[in-house]
Amino acid sequence: MTWWQPGVLYQIYPRSFADSNGDGIGDMDGITGHLDHLRGSPGSLGVDAIWVSPFFRSPGADFGYDVSDYTDIDPVYGDLAAFDRLLAAAHERGLRVLLDLIPGHTSVEHPWFRAARSSRTDPHRRLYIWADPTPDGGPPNGWTSTFGGSAWEWDEGSGQYYLHSFYPEQPDLDWREPAVHERIGEVVRFWLQRGVDGFRVDAIDRSIKDPLLRENPPALPGPRRFDSFRGQYHLWNKDRPETLDVVRSIRRSAERVKPGSLLLGESYIPIERLARYLGDHPGDAFDLVFDFPFLDSAWDAGALRHAVEAAEAHFPPSGWPCRALSNHDNPRHATRFGRGSLRAAAMLSLTLRGTPVLYMGEEIGMADVPASAGEALDRAGRDAARTPMQWRDEPGAGFTSGEPWLRIGDTSSVNVADQAEDPGSLLSLYRRLIAERAASPALASGSYRGLDTSPESGVFAYVRESGTERSLVAIECRGRAGSHDLFAAARGSLPKTGRLALSTDTSRPSSDDLDLSHVDLAANEGIIVSL
Ligand code: NOJ
Repeated sequence: MTWWQPGVLYQIYPRSFADSNGDGIGDMDGITGHLDHLRGSPGSLGVDAIWVSPFFRSPGADFGYDVSDYTDIDPVYGDLAAFDRLLAAAHERGLRVLLDLIPGHTSVEHPWFRAARSSRTDPHRRLYIWADPTPDGGPPNGWTSTFGGSAWEWDEGSGQYYLHSFYPEQPDLDWREPAVHERIGEVVRFWLQRGVDGFRVDAIDRSIKDPLLRENPPALPGPRRFDSFRGQYHLWNKDRPETLDVVRSIRRSAERVKPGSLLLGESYIPIERLARYLGDHPGDAFDLVFDFPFLDSAWDAGALRHAVEAAEAHFPPSGWPCRALSNHDNPRHATRFGRGSLRAAAMLSLTLRGTPVLYMGEEIGMADVPASAGEALDRAGRDAARTPMQWRDEPGAGFTSGEPWLRIGDTSSVNVADQAEDPGSLLSLYRRLIAERAASPALASGSYRGLDTSPESGVFAYVRESGTERSLVAIECRGRAGSHDLFAAARGSLPKTGRLALSTDTSRPSSDDLDLSHVDLAANEGIIVSL
């Protein structure tokens, strides 16, 4: 068993976690100063690792996902010494640290790209993807970028177009070029040598494109954004078969320095294709890949079960799912699902088979904070999910003593300090669930089996099992109180009774013996039953 299978990961968006110097922007020392919240103190959440979104030198066109120096810290966040302090303080508490690796593109201001565009014969030219205009001067083909418009940008100085899968300020690296493997390999080794424990690997499916630049077909109807977006089905510029070679290359670089480093891949593709990125055997490619079809699922028992079981069905036997309900690119689940479901969603996320990745602020129920007109900073409209962490109910929210870079949400009940004191709070429930998970081999690493509850019941129920330990989890997703026959839904595979171990409803006595054929659930209640 690896550390990350039973583990819980926690995503920090560093601009918004904690500001130590009053400039309104979160920073490295701010994170270091708030590690008590995460692990190693009596009131900590108890998570096992943090993934910190990019803090490398960057002009900030994509808030750090446009890197101009992969091996230095942007001054807004501190410096390498501040990073080393963070790493040491985290490790002292047994908290592992994952960084964001962005292998697919640099910033236009990266010295590699500056050199590349300086002349067609510069050796850096081949690190990027260049093509001549069509005879009428237009872009080489019709590929569209994720953020809209053509994926090609004209470079006046050198008289060719360069490719960018995201903003024009993010030119794509060419992973068909061995020098790119070498350069990014050096980045991987630099951070692992410095002591980090692994990487979340950005947008892996964009690393390799069709060398013939074939035209994409028109968009297909289907799941939003997975393959069809911006008017086309991204057949030739996304998730090409050779992408697995890129993952293996990153894996080899990591293994050279720190065998067993965690590599967690990010790719918005259907689950059956996502499974390929786990490679042929453990340690071959990624250890984990985000299950974004799960994140995209509605708060509906059938839809959630379908998403969970699609991963169970498509992943190799050694594969281990990885799920987040929120992140910095999507509306928060408090907003998508509604506040009523937050306690049950916490239980779901922390009791499924797989590694949960919590997004900072979800543990106190932070919802999207829409930017007012004129306030928007992110051109792709993602500010609302990135607002500052709400530590206390006061001006600046305990996040900053200055003017916050993004408007802060309503802190009156959604703040760490107040919820930490309240045993009935969402934060207390997260702590409790993380502790239960850590103490239970069934919940942490056991097998998963879904129960056949009727679609009308609105209940998602499953059994987690390891050795002689068995737990039943039932989540009411419809927002309606009722009585449910989970014994029948288990089709003879469960005993008639169990003991209530934990309910999201704090008023329910936990030692209750339950008759599984008549399980009463309140609206949006989740329960864990020991069998
Ligand atoms: C995925 C990141 O999560 C997102 O924030 C970014 O804009 C794109 N990749 C491009 O790096």
